[in-house]
Amino acid sequence: MRHHRRPLADRTVSLLAEGYAWLPDRMRRAPDHALRTRVLGRQALALRGPEAVRFFYDERHVRRHGAVPEPVLGTLFGHGAVHTLDGEEHRVRKRMFLSLLTPPDRVADVAAHAAAAWDEAVASWARRPGAVVLFDEAAQVLTAAVCRWAGVPPGAGRVGAVAGDLVAMVDGFATLGPRHWRARRARRRCEAWLAPLVEEVRSGVRTAPEGSALAAVAGHRDAGGRMPGPRTAAVELLNVLRPTVAIAWYVAFAAHALHRWPANRDRLRAGDRAYPAAFVHELRRFYPFAPFSGGRAATGLCWRGTAVPAGGVVLLDIYGQNHDSGLWGDPYAFRPARFLERPAERDELIPQGGGDASAGHRCPGEAITVAVLETLVVRLARLEYRLPPQDLGIPLRRVPSRPRSGVLIELAPHVA
Ligand code: HEM
Repeated sequence: MRHHRRPLADRTVSLLAEGYAWLPDRMRRAPDHALRTRVLGRQALALRGPEAVRFFYDERHVRRHGAVPEPVLGTLFGHGAVHTLDGEEHRVRKRMFLSLLTPPDRVADVAAHAAAAWDEAVASWARRPGAVVLFDEAAQVLTAAVCRWAGVPPGAGRVGAVAGDLVAMVDGFATLGPRHWRARRARRRCEAWLAPLVEEVRSGVRTAPEGSALAAVAGHRDAGGRMPGPRTAAVELLNVLRPTVAIAWYVAFAAHALHRWPANRDRLRAGDRAYPAAFVHELRRFYPFAPFSGGRAATGLCWRGTAVPAGGVVLLDIYGQNHDSGLWGDPYAFRPARFLERPAERDELIPQGGGDASAGHRCPGEAITVAVLETLVVRLARLEYRLPPQDLGIPLRRVPSRPRSGVLIELAPHVA
């Protein structure tokens, strides 16, 4: 299995080396935010801006089949994932995710599980001497919460190992070094854990909690009425578990923001209902996570005078758009109040993709991400802790990035 190790031609090397700055740097020199480049051995068109979002998420323009490189499928998304489907196949699979992840009571349920797991964890940190690594702790909190919610408890003493695997899959998708191989092993382990659970539910040996992700995925039928195989079902269960645990990146970023701009702590503690949402939107806008989204041109395309042939790569510059001075005044200032002054339009703030989630590939987990973060950032702001000396640098050459230390925190002695 060495096909994914072919030498990376053209701009792909600079993309891997330059990380978040790669596309925005080149975009700066592109008229009308339309850039012609080459990646993965193909001609490519990169674009940004709300109108570009609508162009990009129009299926007549951009398709996903064959668009995601194998190293990303083998780590982050999984083979056969919803991310790779088009047309009716995509709509039917996506409907399952949306009905599972978007009803307000479901969203509130995930947030309640996260709150309970957080409170339990804080009590345990208080009993431990020394500092804890917030990123690692948040990943475990989120793993415990989402696994319980999804109907797939990891088993006694295994939350840490499962959290490590779910984090590894996200951490290793954009490199071909050791992190990448760790991510592949993590995916294999997790699929091997979940696929038999799906088979047991299907054969009646196991009962999935009603309304759980396990029940939804095990009972799902694709377009044409076929059940996805157990491996694909495991891939889709992981597409619920893994990104929920990825919210740990934003918890670490929240701690970074509270440290750098402490006035936010008082606002979050004050109990003002609108501020947590504004803070969370600014977290998702300001800090680096998904650098871009991509697909293949369904036909020859021309965007603002820049063309790409059918089969070429089309990239939506997510990180660049979230820092575009044409959309955001003073984009490199962390200022949650911007969202109180003017709510963002659907296709302006796109850390989790753009367009309409039911018609295109926009993330179906956005409401859960926001609700879980609102709950956790208020808890974090209320916690009494200090940061011992550490490296809080967030290297923009590393994808995905996070504060290098993972954010070490020491609880005040009276917290318990
Ligand atoms: C898709 C980001 C949380 C489930 C996506 C996409 C991005 C993204 C950029 C791709 C959009 C595109 O293809 O153009 C994030 C970030 C998250 C997050 C930054 C926060 C850490 C979640 C959560 C869930 C989730 C909590 C589920 C519980 C999915 C799924 C897709 C997706 C299933 C594929 C949708 C499709 O292809 O139609 N996400 N996401 N994500 N996300 Fe999220």
